[in-house]
Amino acid sequence: MTATIPASEHPGRVEGTLMQVDHPELRGKVAVVTGAGRGMGARFSAALARRGVHVVGADIDESLMGEAASAITREHEGVDGAGDVVATGVDVRDREAQQRVAELARDRFGRLDLWINNAGVFPEAPAIEVPVSQMQATLSINVEGVLYGAQAAASVMEPGGSIINMASVAAVRVRRGRSAYCSSKAAVAHLTECLAVELGDLGVRVNAIAPGFVDTEMTRWVQDDPQALAKALDSIPLHRLGSPEEIVGPMLFLASDSARYVTGHILAVDGGSRHV
Ligand SMILES: NC(=O)c1ccc[n+]([C@@H]2O[C@H](COP(=O)([O-])OP(=O)(O)OC[C@H]3O[C@@H](n4cnc5c(N)ncnc54)[C@H](O)[C@@H]3O)[C@@H](O)[C@H]2O)c1
Repeated sequence: MTATIPASEHPGRVEGTLMQVDHPELRGKVAVVTGAGRGMGARFSAALARRGVHVVGADIDESLMGEAASAITREHEGVDGAGDVVATGVDVRDREAQQRVAELARDRFGRLDLWINNAGVFPEAPAIEVPVSQMQATLSINVEGVLYGAQAAASVMEPGGSIINMASVAAVRVRRGRSAYCSSKAAVAHLTECLAVELGDLGVRVNAIAPGFVDTEMTRWVQDDPQALAKALDSIPLHRLGSPEEIVGPMLFLASDSARYVTGHILAVDGGSRHV
């Protein structure tokens, strides 16, 4: 299967065609993706649906989520065996709301196999000025959101299920002005390991992806500022940003049978930037 990475005038971005593995064993499975209204969550949902996975996409911005689901459905018109994409609203800070999403997936499609805790925020402030509201919101969305998502998923999944959390290179590398974010992603990485140990009792695997700079709205500030972009590219051994499509393959690997003995792993997909 191939994915197309659209052309861009931004330096440091990749474009062209990318080969991706089909993973036919995913066909007929059911996934929840949080923060699926745009960015990586939307591309994960599209890639899963293209492989015959039914997806519940959940986002705090319901209209964005509805548009993303319709766009994926249009993209797959005529694709044999493509999965359905259902849009719903969720605020991942709300434990009961995440539980309702898990039940929606089970009631609509009869099972739940994969849950991607992808929703996240990336606020900025110098460390000594981080307001209480920013710290609380960041920990609540990025960390509590992952815990409540895992709880909801585990309550509905059968053994063999898989949870994927979105950590970040920022879990192990300092980003100036992003102390709330960096500390939240360090927590996500360790929470992934804690969950892997306990959910192993249920036969559920828990892993994380730790991307570097990926070309989404979240990193628009880097792409639109030549100085920030040059600095970012300097910190990436592969000298370019990642495309969301380049995070899809690692996500599919962790979701697939190829990774059925992999749990508690933090998979860096960062062009090598964790070493710089
Ligand atoms: N883009 C990057 O360079 C990068 C790098 C490392 C890690 N990540 C992580 O990957 C994930 C996806 O990043 P992205 O770049 O696609 O982000 P994005 O900003 O493009 O999309 C995030 C989505 O999450 C949703 N969201 C925010 N708060 C929410 C809440 N409380 N409840 C439900 N949904 C909510 C937003 O509406 C949005 O649709 C995030 O966890 C992010 O921290 C991104």
